[in-house]
Amino acid sequence: MTASSPKSSKAGQQLWGGRFEGGLDPFFEAFNRSLPFDRRMVDEDLVGSIAWAEALGGAGVLSATEVKKLQKALTALRKTCRDEPQRIAEATDEDVHSFVERELGALVGSLAKKLHTGRSRNDQVATDLKLWMRTALGELDAAFHGLLGALVDLAERTADLPVPGYTHLQRAQPITAGHHALAYAEMLGRDRERLADCVRRMDACPLGSGAMAGTAFGVDRRALAKALGFRQPTRNSLDTVSDRDHVAETLFVCSLAMVHLSRLAEDWIFLGTHEARLVRFADAVATGSSLMPQKKNPDALELIRGKCGRIHGHLHALMMTMKGLPLAYDKDLQEDKEGLFDALDQTIACLKVARTVVETIEYDQERCRTAASQGYLNATDLADLLVQAGVPFRDAHERVGLAVRQAIAQGCELEDLPPAILQELVPELAGSLRRDLAVDKVLARRKVVGGTAPARVRAEVKAWRKRLG
Ligand code: ARG
Repeated sequence: MTASSPKSSKAGQQLWGGRFEGGLDPFFEAFNRSLPFDRRMVDEDLVGSIAWAEALGGAGVLSATEVKKLQKALTALRKTCRDEPQRIAEATDEDVHSFVERELGALVGSLAKKLHTGRSRNDQVATDLKLWMRTALGELDAAFHGLLGALVDLAERTADLPVPGYTHLQRAQPITAGHHALAYAEMLGRDRERLADCVRRMDACPLGSGAMAGTAFGVDRRALAKALGFRQPTRNSLDTVSDRDHVAETLFVCSLAMVHLSRLAEDWIFLGTHEARLVRFADAVATGSSLMPQKKNPDALELIRGKCGRIHGHLHALMMTMKGLPLAYDKDLQEDKEGLFDALDQTIACLKVARTVVETIEYDQERCRTAASQGYLNATDLADLLVQAGVPFRDAHERVGLAVRQAIAQGCELEDLPPAILQELVPELAGSLRRDLAVDKVLARRKVVGGTAPARVRAEVKAWRKRLG
């Protein structure tokens, strides 16, 4: 806040001074100001204005010379804003649109005052935000793509590696580590599709909607939409200036992706505990303790897990802002940006860090194989083998349950039970058990579509590579 007395801010400095006699309360002025965050959209605001000048030319509001002059100045301003970022960082205008109009005035004088004809900051900000999002969502997509590629590489490296699979956090059946990696690829692949869907739905140009009722000048909105790279103009001015569905959808995409990342984080934090010791994290993504010299903590994954909450906060904040909001534009909508910017920054950062974790994680091959080979994770397979020998599954389940009890009592694996017990419980199978219950056999059997078999994982890796291009 720079102003020191309520009268020190002249109403004439704003874009709307005429109607006002008194100045702004300085505390409110700062409270009202969105420039500190909406300046991120300055390039989009300038691009939108360049197209709007063209549209006003087409509508006969501006002469061809005026259009040229404005566009030249706006283009120069784009360069200035890129080269001298401190200029806008230090400015005290109300918002990015006011900043641009003032700077334009300094370049072309009173001609700058014509540019806002038939336009409102309401359709302007809606347009700027969509243009900004188009680029940002492209970056989000690239970050998804990067992590997906890393997961597929990991799946290929670990397509054969047996690890214990869990349900209820109890060891359940052997799986391949590659299958586990591709489970997360599936989740993130859906996130990416949701994102593409949002981008497609967002693809309509707000500019030309005016404050809320449409513009009274004969602007060719189709040509304007095309000039700004949109497929079409929006169809209803009231909806257009108050629609933030694309922000909500993006926040949901980020939120769900973060849920997925937090689950990956939790899975690996667990597998990396001293109790499990099945994976190790690279030094590059772990930190130590200031007190306990032996510690190596999975901070990268913990931060990813933690940021999930913050990003969900942004989704719910926007939903509450939108609830009950009367048509059309209300200043409440200025609250849409900070959460969106932060959610995108953080989600992209998490995807990048997750990628580094995926690229550098190390499975302890020996411990994984041992863990997957012990503890009766092949009990289901023993029952399946009995079924193949003609035993109804429920009877097989019962008999294998008895066998597990015997094995626990003897402190051995199912395939190591004494021949007499095997002869009694599973006479149909005795003999080939050791071979048929070996972990690689157990894995290879699950070659069904969606199964964990190494061959299936390799086929899925191939399909993913094709999908990722
Ligand atoms: N800073 C505003 C926002 O972000 C721009 C639109 C302001 N419109 C208005 N009529 N005050 O929503």
